Amino acid sequence: MKGIILAGGRGMRLHPITRGVSKQLLPVYDKPMIFHPVTTLMLAGIRDILIICMPDSLDAYRRLLGDGKDWGMNFDYAVQPEAKGLAEAYIIGANYVGDEPSALALGDNMFYGAGLRGDLERAGQHTTGAQVFAFQVQNPSEFGIVEIDASNRAISIEEKPQKPRSNWAVTGLYFYDSDVVEIARSVKPSARGELEITSVNEAYLKAGRLQVNKLARGTAWLDAGTFDGLIQASQFVQTIEKRQGHKVACPEEVAWRCGFIDNAQLERLADGYRNEYGAYLRGVLGMPSD
Ligand code: G1P
Repeated sequence: MKGIILAGGRGMRLHPITRGVSKQLLPVYDKPMIFHPVTTLMLAGIRDILIICMPDSLDAYRRLLGDGKDWGMNFDYAVQPEAKGLAEAYIIGANYVGDEPSALALGDNMFYGAGLRGDLERAGQHTTGAQVFAFQVQNPSEFGIVEIDASNRAISIEEKPQKPRSNWAVTGLYFYDSDVVEIARSVKPSARGELEITSVNEAYLKAGRLQVNKLARGTAWLDAGTFDGLIQASQFVQTIEKRQGHKVACPEEVAWRCGFIDNAQLERLADGYRNEYGAYLRGVLGMPSD
């Protein structure tokens, strides 16, 4: 299964912060935001990821993530020159995905919670139709919203509805079979001029091939796209990390726990840091921290 992370857009809601830097590179406490979708896909068992960003931030993403080999991953890069919508990821990434199933993760979506790894592993093994994750929200007009019947079947799906039919928001993590590229190519721009991922999901829904996974209420789904959202996400990560002593969305640790890298490689990665982050990685190995 291939992965795509969409880290495009101008981050207008975070101007002036994002005038000079891509939103998904901003810090969420002790890590860049994009470590969250990277580790989400890693936990789904995905090792090949295409990172799509604006042309002017390509160098920065390459500097941060490289080719992925250090983490037992393969990272490739592509650009989205204009923010034409999330479904464009599959037009840009058509050749990359080929005829494989894939997952799309939005660069600013963060997930945390017990049970999530199992959900992600199951989704990563699913190769037919589409799978989305839904979470109950209080402001449904701001998201893609899915209406679900008593047996968890999707009845309707709408992008940022003025009159929402439910409060189940579709989160920014999507799993598709190989039909997604053709479906994305057939999508027409919405009223706001974008190729909506919701239109792709609607096509799957109409074909009876959209599966909705409800995220348990113990799961945190965070959005760092606003000033308050950004600091709240940082505070959330800091609180969990200080209290529980383990890091959230730490790619080196996830790579090691998933068996993508061995002890010696984690030790080398730890040696590359001269701070508490490196000490943490050594702690993961059960070695003394200095
Ligand atoms: C996008 C999608 C929306 C989804 C949301 C999740 O909205 O269009 O369907 O619910 O991501 O973060 P955006 O926040 O990019 O406007």
